[in-house]
Amino acid sequence: MPKSAPASSLPPLQLDRASATPLSRQLHAEIVRVILDGRARAGVRLPSTRNLSAELGIARNTVNSAYDQLAAEGYIESRVGSGTCVASSLQGQALRAVTGDAQQRDAGTRRHLSQRGARAYAATSLADAFEGTDPRVGHPDLDAFPFATWKRLLSRQIDALARSRFGYTAARGYEPLHEAIVQHLARTRGMSAIGEQVIVVSGTQQALDLCARALLDPRDRILFEDPGYIGARMAFVANGLTLSPVPVDDAGMDVARSPVRTARAAYVTPAHQYPLGSQMSLARRLALLEWARSCDAWIFEDDYDGEYRYAGEPLSSLASLDASGRVIYIGSFSKVLFPALRLGFIVAPAELARRIASIRGFVDRASPMLEQATLAAFMEQGYFAQHLRRMRALYAERRALLLAALREHGDGSLDVLAPETGTIVVVRLPDGVDDTAVAKAFGNEGPLAVLPMSGYCMRPPIRAALLVGFTQARPRDIVPATKALLSTIARLRR
Ligand SMILES: Cc1ncc(COP(=O)(O)O)c(C=O)c1O
Repeated sequence: MPKSAPASSLPPLQLDRASATPLSRQLHAEIVRVILDGRARAGVRLPSTRNLSAELGIARNTVNSAYDQLAAEGYIESRVGSGTCVASSLQGQALRAVTGDAQQRDAGTRRHLSQRGARAYAATSLADAFEGTDPRVGHPDLDAFPFATWKRLLSRQIDALARSRFGYTAARGYEPLHEAIVQHLARTRGMSAIGEQVIVVSGTQQALDLCARALLDPRDRILFEDPGYIGARMAFVANGLTLSPVPVDDAGMDVARSPVRTARAAYVTPAHQYPLGSQMSLARRLALLEWARSCDAWIFEDDYDGEYRYAGEPLSSLASLDASGRVIYIGSFSKVLFPALRLGFIVAPAELARRIASIRGFVDRASPMLEQATLAAFMEQGYFAQHLRRMRALYAERRALLLAALREHGDGSLDVLAPETGTIVVVRLPDGVDDTAVAKAFGNEGPLAVLPMSGYCMRPPIRAALLVGFTQARPRDIVPATKALLSTIARLRR
């Protein structure tokens, strides 16, 4: 190696004086690039700071600062008597790990997933059935949420919470929130749980994934409502479970009609079957509990919007009938408060709850403390119950207007299912009308939100029907929007 290498011992370096990135950062990145792509190999001597600054027309300090950073990161080293060189440890072998072969570099990134990752990724394609339709079905009316109260309670928590609450917190969640949830369930769902049974999670989606991972193994069979909730289906498929569809009618899932006798678990929405809207009858509830006992299975009860019952108080949960600890109850605040809050909960036998919470700790440690504490205050101070009453009245009015408009302006050929619970109405379509085509043609920006039932079906007969979400529709917009929907159906019927 020559004693004093010329500045050109490095290939040409490109700096952009117009860029907002400081020149020393750019120089650093350029030298890293030529080292990593093999154009400046281990041992190659770098120009002196004086030569390089003269060659590039930049301040010597700028070069000093780039060299200092490169040395600190191990790309270059100073050798007594021979100046600054590319570090000797950066031999071909070491570099190959970061540079890869040419083909890989062309692709820009490695895209291989593990088998488990590929299975989970493939599960996301189940949502393709809804592409181009309206994801807002059943979403709460966010304009009606008391954000001013929420803001006041949230900022109060910053002062009120002990500073230790802002460190790493318990995976099972904030104790006062457990208590508030337990009281709410006792009042509205006939449940006599204790705080130790509750795990606060980031919504139903996390709850389902956790239950699958903690309680079931890949290839375990799970009974699944058909039609059924796509979010649950994706979580179970992603976890490698074998889903066994079980028919649903106006009394909920009928375990007696399951094509298989045994399974390790069943997933159900008894308060308000999603997406048909039916309530599971007491006889079916008892039959399901007996089935679970007979084959030692878990039941995952997703009680996602049982709060919105228009003909009286919410129904008692399936979990309230269970004395054997087989029912894992899952609740969410997405429908009553707002989906971006990402708070929900699992109620399980206390020892199991402790174990599931420990597993949850690996995923994201715990739910955010400020939101948990704000929600606890919102519930303790009566705002939750008040908001629920208000929303129930608001949605009851919108639902009644939608049903009246369908009756008045429909031609009698549509069969309308109007469950007493929930945030959707189901409109069965005449034979030969494709529900996906109607949902797409109707668009996704109007007051009513529409999804095709067929996307939720696992087996024929596929029911062509529309899920019509009314929660975000202002009363004055409901008649014109219903007429627009009816004329879309009529157009596609021809
Ligand atoms: C059946 C069902 N369960 C649960 C949820 C809520 O999910 P999350 O709590 O993850 O927002 C929804 C939302 O659409 C749902 O339809």
